[in-house]
Amino acid sequence: MGKIKCVLGIETSCDETGIAVYDGEKGLLGNQLYSQAKLHANYGGIVPELASRDHVRKTVPLIQAVLQEAKLNSKDIDAVAYTAGPGLVGALLVGATVGCALAFAWQIPAVPVHHMEGHLLSPMLENFAPSFPFIALLVSGGHTQLISATDIGRYQLLGESIDDAAGEAFDKVAKLLDLDYPNGAMLSCFAKQGNAKRFIFPRPMTDRPGLNFSFSGLKTFVANTIRTNNNENQTRADIARAFEDAIIDTLAIKCKRALDQSGLARLVIAGGVSANHTLRSRLAEMMRQRGGEIFYARPEFCTDNGAMIAYTGWVRLKTNSDIKNDLNITVRPRWSLSELTY
Ligand code: KG4
Ligand code: ZN
Repeated sequence: MGKIKCVLGIETSCDETGIAVYDGEKGLLGNQLYSQAKLHANYGGIVPELASRDHVRKTVPLIQAVLQEAKLNSKDIDAVAYTAGPGLVGALLVGATVGCALAFAWQIPAVPVHHMEGHLLSPMLENFAPSFPFIALLVSGGHTQLISATDIGRYQLLGESIDDAAGEAFDKVAKLLDLDYPNGAMLSCFAKQGNAKRFIFPRPMTDRPGLNFSFSGLKTFVANTIRTNNNENQTRADIARAFEDAIIDTLAIKCKRALDQSGLARLVIAGGVSANHTLRSRLAEMMRQRGGEIFYARPEFCTDNGAMIAYTGWVRLKTNSDIKNDLNITVRPRWSLSELTY
């Protein structure tokens, strides 16, 4: 296999079609995103079949748009990376099929990428990029995990949510508070109007050792608080504030614990919830006090995107030069990061 320079990345694991081109020498050359949020908003959650159909409509046009943006043609692309899991099976199959078909037509390698590895490596797209080893807090709509990352492909799971993911809790509480779907980001904005002292919610599983999380009880606590209080705007904002404070405090306590246990001084936060300003500043202050460093991606690379997939594909090809050009279209809706082999 010749030198891989330019990788096309395809992300279709959930409700965003993300396409990008990453060049090992020049960096990111093109990046396009289409969010299906409006499509699913009427249903109050993601409808998998509608997600798949919309990926079918958007993937190829976005690839054309990215090539145009990057001023490249198909001959300039050296490999195609696509998200192979975890995610919605039908949605994953769209990206995998398009990716493998293009790789076959263009006679270049197709690289299946783990979506959470994409998130994990996304801060490396920034100028202030982490180097190994580090502790990573992955906080997305589907996952809340603490990982000890010692090298590319060397990821040890230290703890994870035993029920709802942090992003899922944000989304469900936003719904309970009658905010539009999706929205962790909207809940966080609303919480700024809230009084932090009016309600104090529990910090789940912080009173016992270990690095696992549980957020479903907190969601029930919020539901009960909503039921037993008035429905005024200020009360709802106060509840949003108490919820956000509780979840961020819990994440911070567990990050501190993981850093203490590992003796590492670098913290990476990634995934949709890492776009949260309050979480970023809380953890940044913690790392400043510890004399350590924190790394995160720009907000649009925290939520799902094609750039992290193109970059991870490029890293995988660079690390593993004997990667097989396997055009079998296999996706893995459930796939643990610690099962990665390379
Ligand atoms: O990583 P991501 O785009 O998709 C998954 O892989 O799941 O994460 C989406 C999640 C959603 O639950 C969304 O509400 C949450 O990230 N999120 C936020 C913020 N921005 C996105 N949660 C809290 N604060 C934010 N600013
Ligand atoms: Zn994601």
